[in-house]
Amino acid sequence: MELKYPRLFSPIKIGNVTLRNRIIASPTSQPSLEPPVYLKKECVAFYELRAKGGAAAVTLGDTVVHSRTGLMHPYKIRIDDPAAIPSLADTARAIRQHGAIPSLELTHGGKFANVSNLINKVNTGVPAYGPSHEVNADGCEILEMPEELILEIVEAFGKGAAVAKMAGFGMVTVHGGHGWLIAQFMSPATNRRTDRFGGSRENRMRFPLMVLDSIRAAVGPGFPIEFRMSGAEFTEGGYDVDEGVEIAKLLAPKVDLLHVSAGVHDNPDTFTITHPSMFLPHGCNVFLAERIKKAVDVPVATIGGISDPAMMEEIIASGKADIVEMSRSLMADPYLPTKARLGRDEDIVKCMRCFVCMNQLRTTRNMKCALNPVIGRELEHMHMLPPTEPKRVLVAGGGPAGMQAAIAAAGRGHSVILCEVSDALGGQLKCEKYVPFKQDLYDFIRVLSRRMEQAGVEVRLNTKVTPELVRSLAPDALIIALGADHIVPNIPGIHRENVRFLPALQQENPEFGKRVVVLGGGLVGCETAIHLRDMGHEVTVVEMCEDFAADAPLFHKQAIGIQFRNGIALRLNTRAVEITKDGVRCVGSGKNEVFYPADTVFCAVGLRSREAEREELRDTAPLVFTVGDCVAPGQVTQAVAGGYYAALDI
Ligand SMILES: Cc1cc2nc3c(=O)[nH]c(=O)nc-3n(C[C@H](O)[C@H](O)[C@H](O)COP(=O)(O)O)c2cc1C
Repeated sequence: MELKYPRLFSPIKIGNVTLRNRIIASPTSQPSLEPPVYLKKECVAFYELRAKGGAAAVTLGDTVVHSRTGLMHPYKIRIDDPAAIPSLADTARAIRQHGAIPSLELTHGGKFANVSNLINKVNTGVPAYGPSHEVNADGCEILEMPEELILEIVEAFGKGAAVAKMAGFGMVTVHGGHGWLIAQFMSPATNRRTDRFGGSRENRMRFPLMVLDSIRAAVGPGFPIEFRMSGAEFTEGGYDVDEGVEIAKLLAPKVDLLHVSAGVHDNPDTFTITHPSMFLPHGCNVFLAERIKKAVDVPVATIGGISDPAMMEEIIASGKADIVEMSRSLMADPYLPTKARLGRDEDIVKCMRCFVCMNQLRTTRNMKCALNPVIGRELEHMHMLPPTEPKRVLVAGGGPAGMQAAIAAAGRGHSVILCEVSDALGGQLKCEKYVPFKQDLYDFIRVLSRRMEQAGVEVRLNTKVTPELVRSLAPDALIIALGADHIVPNIPGIHRENVRFLPALQQENPEFGKRVVVLGGGLVGCETAIHLRDMGHEVTVVEMCEDFAADAPLFHKQAIGIQFRNGIALRLNTRAVEITKDGVRCVGSGKNEVFYPADTVFCAVGLRSREAEREELRDTAPLVFTVGDCVAPGQVTQAVAGGYYAALDI
């Protein structure tokens, strides 16, 4: 069979192991661990699904080799605890079952262990060790790691690798990037030692190279060792790509795969480069791998915001890297590799880089994906039973909630009609059509429409679902997914012709004057402000509360904050009291009056559920489910999950 992406699906040898293609599921932390921190069956299923979807290798993220000093978060697997082994073995087996190589990431938090940090807000009181002495921003003392402890940790990496191999993993990934312990030794920003482990590059590299020797001694020749490094740190005092290349040259002889990521996790400006935000181009870190690949003769992997198989093929065909790794794209669509292999690109749900996954993991240690309702609940879906008897299902509303409900219901054998009152599917997502950094989300409408077609859903556009229509179609189940309308706030002047609302964004060239005031600094207002700024407008965002994008996942909010530094004025604690033809009269927190001149005012103060229409339909069918924005206005995450799970209840 002729493949659309022959390079992407050509095997590659890493050590003595052959990967079936060039796609690796990059290290991703364990959702839902059980105390005292083993992988639950549900968690194993998260990795299993990545393997089932066709990745060549699947990497279990962040297992800590020396738990006394290395835990950057209490919810990390401790590979030095023998009690962790059964669930590790179970995970390795589940991944292998689908023809993928299980890999395990070995790590140590260094100066971020046992202290408060970005992801761990608990100060344990246990001493923290880094390469050099310092007092961190929270006032915690970090001790300089004594040589005996360095040697103990070097040994612990070897022991951890041996455990991984014994448990059935076919590869180990050493975490030498993102500012964790190994990177702390490598980086001039954090390593200020004057002994044989600090100072010159040779000395800074001594610890990582000893770690690699220790691992090699433990796992024997041929067992694949992947080393994850940041190609450049993008942080003050950190190393740049030139130094990254020199570092890579020293590492290369001791590893089988150099995995080139970027950045440090503790700098909020860099975090959204390591995990590229939607405001950065896809594949923005590939250049780092490309530079390093030219200088070394081991296979090199790249990562960061990659989801398009054509881009992956180009990366490999042009020799920029040998392997493409991804984390979030395989949550949005674990079957991406299989679909790419079959040339079914148009069926791939692309990650929109919204950070819902990260946010969920950070706050609750559960896993969630905005566009894939199965993530975090993979186990129950592996054993999903078909419905006992097929039913007739009517879906009212063609937004993401309604479409997802229709697909899931039809996929389970029900006969489904979806009615949409307007002339196009997509609901609120239609507003993303002309926003360049939201194209992955906008594309989601196309994928859902296609899936509906494949599942045999009958779509009726320009059709309002009334109680009469429901009576005439007599469905067994009605799913109400009517969506929401934008709120028109009660501000004098709101009906002026210089005021625009969300639907204006559905036009290719909406009429906006040079100066725009955006009313509402929530997620929608902030993203619109960035879009308008990018189109050349002068933008001021006026927000009543003391915070902006408060409804955004934390790391997306950080990415928005970075964007706001450039050409957008943010006025918090400020309330609009009147819109005139020349701008907006506001009252600030000190009750002072301010006037923001504007040619156009964009109003993004929120959505209101279509309650009256919803209530009209409430008891019109034997089974009625209400999903998405018409329950409560939310984001696409809630819409997709609501639609999907309602359909499973039929
Ligand atoms: C939810 C989540 C958990 C992650 N956990 C880890 C981890 O345990 N170890 C690690 O090295 N990287 C981890 N990463 C970083 C990813 O491996 C990857 O470098 C990053 O997400 C950028 O790739 P992407 O754009 O394909 O998602 C995680 C990323 C996400 C989104």
